[in-house]
Amino acid sequence: MLLVEDVTKNFGKFNALKNINLEFHNGVYGLLAPNGAGKTTLIKMLTTLLFPTSGTIRYEGNDIIKMDEMYRDLIGYLPQEFGYYKNYTPTAYLLYLAALKGIDRKTAVSRVKELLKTVALDHVATKKMKKFSGGMIQRVGIAQAMLNDPKILILDEPTAGLDPKERVRFRNLLTNLARDRIVILSTHIVSDVESIANEIITIKNQEVLYKDTVSNICRKIEGLVYETEVHYEDTDRFRSTYLTLSEKQEAGSMHMRFLTTDTAKPEWHSVHPNLEDVFLYIYQDETTAQGSFND
Ligand SMILES: Nc1ncnc2c1ncn2[C@@H]1O[C@H](COP(=O)(O)OP(=O)(O)OP(=O)(O)O)[C@@H](O)[C@H]1O
Ligand SMILES: [Mg+2]
Repeated sequence: MLLVEDVTKNFGKFNALKNINLEFHNGVYGLLAPNGAGKTTLIKMLTTLLFPTSGTIRYEGNDIIKMDEMYRDLIGYLPQEFGYYKNYTPTAYLLYLAALKGIDRKTAVSRVKELLKTVALDHVATKKMKKFSGGMIQRVGIAQAMLNDPKILILDEPTAGLDPKERVRFRNLLTNLARDRIVILSTHIVSDVESIANEIITIKNQEVLYKDTVSNICRKIEGLVYETEVHYEDTDRFRSTYLTLSEKQEAGSMHMRFLTTDTAKPEWHSVHPNLEDVFLYIYQDETTAQGSFND
């Protein structure tokens, strides 16, 4: 078990995170928050690349900073900006990293082979990475994070730059890897984590707002989400009255999905909220949340 106890992080006078309390067991955790919310800061503290200003992070009861190398041997990490060598083949690159990690050559050779199979890159094991797609590079990134068969796998925005097909493959891969380890990934894209995360963690105003299952989080706005048809000429007024979650143009009218605490009108259909609705609701007053949402 990985335990974050009352962790605060300041950069000089700037407070990035405050009083963070979290508990992680085996499974997938989605750290879901808009740009600048503090995801990377939290992740860097979980990897000991940054130290908390106050508070403690413990693995199986031990302070991870005191565990030092023993802790780093247990974790695998894919940074948000992941550097690789274009002219290397994935095999050569992973063997090089394995050597840096002190894994003996014989073990490394078989491990690299097995990992490239796991991330479905065995067919390009000896091709230079310069011709790889974004998704292929991300999978090399996951393979490097998995070299030491980590108990804790931490991935910072691992789906950036992936196409929809690669995203599906990636989600399946993570689900498999999370059977016997803690997997923590950060993203600002709801669909990346909605279907696979055992729990979602949202950060707002430097604090953890929710840490719960998708269905429990969605329940927070149960009964407040509706869909209805709105005449074109009324759409602007509608948008300024209710929180629009999505809209679709239809013949002669707009199909609106929206949130309100007002008493329901007869023409409104109540619908079950999804995680994207919740995300739009909790970050409605943050322009970056909406701006970064549509990619
Ligand atoms: N070394 C630093 N010094 C000062 N401020 C920092 C530092 N690192 C991060 N910050 C600030 O802390 C806040 C959180 O940044 P962080 O990188 O953790 O956000 P994030 O959620 O990972 O964002 P993104 O989605 O853009 O990756 C931001 O306001 C950022 O400018
Ligand atoms: Mg980040």
